[in-house]
Amino acid sequence: MSINYSEKIPNNVDLASDRRLQRALENWQPAYLQWWKDMGPEGAQAFDVYLRTAISTDANGWAQFGHVKMPDYRWGIFLADREADRKVNFGEQMGMPAWQDVPGEHRATLRRLIVTQGDTEPASVEQQRMLGKTAPSLYDLRNLFQINVEEGRHLWAMVYLLHAYFGRDGREEAEAMLERHSGDPDKPRILGAFNEETPDWLSFFMFTYFTDRDGKYQLASLAESGFDPLARTCKFMLTEEAHHMFVGETGISRILQRTCDLMREHKTDDVRAFGGIDLSTMQKYLNFHFSVSLDLFGQELSTNAANYYTAGIKGRFLETRIADDHKLADTTYRVTTFRDGGIVETDAPALTALNERLRQDYIEDCARGLVRWNKIIEKAGINFELKLPHRGFHRAIGAFSGAHVSPDGKVLSDAEWRENKHRFLPSDEDRAYVTSLMSAAVIEPGKFANWIAPPARGINNQPGEFEYVRFN
Ligand SMILES: [Fe+2]
Ligand SMILES: [Fe+2]
Repeated sequence: MSINYSEKIPNNVDLASDRRLQRALENWQPAYLQWWKDMGPEGAQAFDVYLRTAISTDANGWAQFGHVKMPDYRWGIFLADREADRKVNFGEQMGMPAWQDVPGEHRATLRRLIVTQGDTEPASVEQQRMLGKTAPSLYDLRNLFQINVEEGRHLWAMVYLLHAYFGRDGREEAEAMLERHSGDPDKPRILGAFNEETPDWLSFFMFTYFTDRDGKYQLASLAESGFDPLARTCKFMLTEEAHHMFVGETGISRILQRTCDLMREHKTDDVRAFGGIDLSTMQKYLNFHFSVSLDLFGQELSTNAANYYTAGIKGRFLETRIADDHKLADTTYRVTTFRDGGIVETDAPALTALNERLRQDYIEDCARGLVRWNKIIEKAGINFELKLPHRGFHRAIGAFSGAHVSPDGKVLSDAEWRENKHRFLPSDEDRAYVTSLMSAAVIEPGKFANWIAPPARGINNQPGEFEYVRFN
């Protein structure tokens, strides 16, 4: 296969002038396309999908809309514009010029961080690959595919960094990205939440709200990195990530709207009889996705996190807007943790508590969506409030992993946990019910499945009847 890569891969990294890099990507690209065919959206390769493609990073170029077959999507490589005289903004080297190449002493660390981030991108495509078969509308089907191609582009973004800055090791890591698979017993994806299934659309919307938002916080702290190409790459990825979280937030909003409508119409909490998703099931799914996403931030106290920060590799959320010394050697941070059978608050060195601080920023961000969701319920005159569970609830990583904590923050015995688990988390029966609502895709333009309300407006202001996906 002969491809002119400078044309086929839209980019703003002057790919045409770097023959070595171009060859490396040439070698990787067929493997990527094969992966997309094998592990990407099932049965959808021939569909024409109304997709947004980035052809540059400026206001006009980053959102070009048109119908395209997904394997022909132009996965591009984009870095945000270079900031003149950008400095390392935190840690030991604060004030020194940002690094345009990888410092030798940080090579292994940076590679690991890039690989860990990169691994999540194709993982989510794999997790979501069956959802096209049960989409609640063409609008939603299109949004799923948009997210999938952009996660594919995010993999390209990380693979570009590996190829451009890490030589042979980077090439090997790029290949391994396509060899690990979500949920694979032998070669799983690196992080736990990315080996969970996304079996239904309620899970999908929860995933894009909660787990893509973890992505936002990881990318935002890497966007502060002293390694400038990584910072600029992550900055542009964040622009796209915003749409993924929008899909999650509005998806949940629309389900809530429909549920509330059914509750009022039939004067009952039990909307299952009418094909809706009851509010307590929504809460259980929320509990699950929030808690597995919290795990992605790692241990409460971490010397790795401290070292990344001190080295100038990974910053805090909106680092440059924080008014302090950006070294944190003498400051403490309040951490909620589990000790001697109880939940305690303790002051920890701010440097080792950086994971917890990022987790806290994330929790506050998550809470904002719940305010909007609860407004929908309140407006319908229904007495019910969605809540974020306690941070110690259902954790597999960190101090709380050895404890059972209820959503409202009470420590439970093993027996109490077993007895109540399915009041907190979706039971097999809940999952079977949700799945039963989604047995086939709704593909008539302008029509929606019974369990979800239409969106307030179309993508790129398209009308309700718009044919977002053409099946041919
Ligand atoms: Fe992503
Ligand atoms: Fe995403």
